Amino acid sequence: MTVLDATIERLGTDDATGYTTFQLGSFTFRRDEYFAHVSWPKGNHIIEVDRFLRAMVRDIGWGFFYGWIFFDDVFGTTNHYGTVDVFAGSYDRGCKEAGIDHLETFTADAVSEAFTTISQDWISEGYDPLNAPLETGTPIGPKGAERTDPLLRAFIAADRMLGLPGDKPVRSDASGFPVNRAFADLDFDTPDIECEPGFEGQLHAINLFDHIARSDVTWNPSISAVSRANICCVTSEEHMLPVIHGNDRNEWFIQLSDEIHWNIADKNTGAPRGRIEMKAGDVCAMPADIRHQGFSPKRSMLMVMENGTPGLEQRYASGELKPYPVDFG
Ligand code: PHB
Ligand code: FE
Repeated sequence: MTVLDATIERLGTDDATGYTTFQLGSFTFRRDEYFAHVSWPKGNHIIEVDRFLRAMVRDIGWGFFYGWIFFDDVFGTTNHYGTVDVFAGSYDRGCKEAGIDHLETFTADAVSEAFTTISQDWISEGYDPLNAPLETGTPIGPKGAERTDPLLRAFIAADRMLGLPGDKPVRSDASGFPVNRAFADLDFDTPDIECEPGFEGQLHAINLFDHIARSDVTWNPSISAVSRANICCVTSEEHMLPVIHGNDRNEWFIQLSDEIHWNIADKNTGAPRGRIEMKAGDVCAMPADIRHQGFSPKRSMLMVMENGTPGLEQRYASGELKPYPVDFG
């Protein structure tokens, strides 16, 4: 396998729209007022620009996540933890049959730099692809003023357990982020903390609902607890997951409020496998051999549990581990 450490090249700027066209390996990326156009030697593809940018900033921010990130049915990336495939049509039956599919492998740093460069050029002030569509402007139209704030929300890492003295102002802190409009009707009780003498200032508890209700982004899980490779993320979801995620391992969802509808399809072909409507309190495991996309009609709260054990993807890919976590009966 050839791994390209290619750097992204600027091919020129369109006078009419102000947007730059880029090349990474043999893929070219061009945008106009409405669409992103991706081309490769044997084919080309068109994606609505909002969809493209919402997927791209998440792909960068998540470090390419676990396994496959499909921007839509055709274009996306696969994470090999150090290297990343950029593909077009490689997991789409129609493109495969037509023989126009294409895949190139790059270092993760090369793809990250390329996607950051494209996003910076194609995103203007007034549009934030991490916000819910009702809470931000539109990316359509010619290039506007460049955004000066960070495109990707850097993690605001807690120094201590959230809310303990010495931690920075965090989302659970009322002086930080306001409660989102969708959660304005919730009451947030604060936990009673009874501490053994001598442990004052070391033990604390927060209301996790209050914490999630203050998230200003959507479909962007943040780590709320880690023990070894066990990663617990919480996130607030509104509108649709802007990517289709193809798992390389199991992941668990716990629906904490409201509801999310999931479309589940075969990872390799995209053939439909099922639909799930998760209501508050529902728990499900997404198997290791599927792709899925969530739709949240109203802003909702979701907990995602990931197993970050290195090499796990190979144990699923080889068939050593079954694609689902539990045998019932
Ligand atoms: C997922 O692909 O499993 C996923 C991604 C982002 C979210 C929630 C779930 O916010
Ligand atoms: Fe997923």
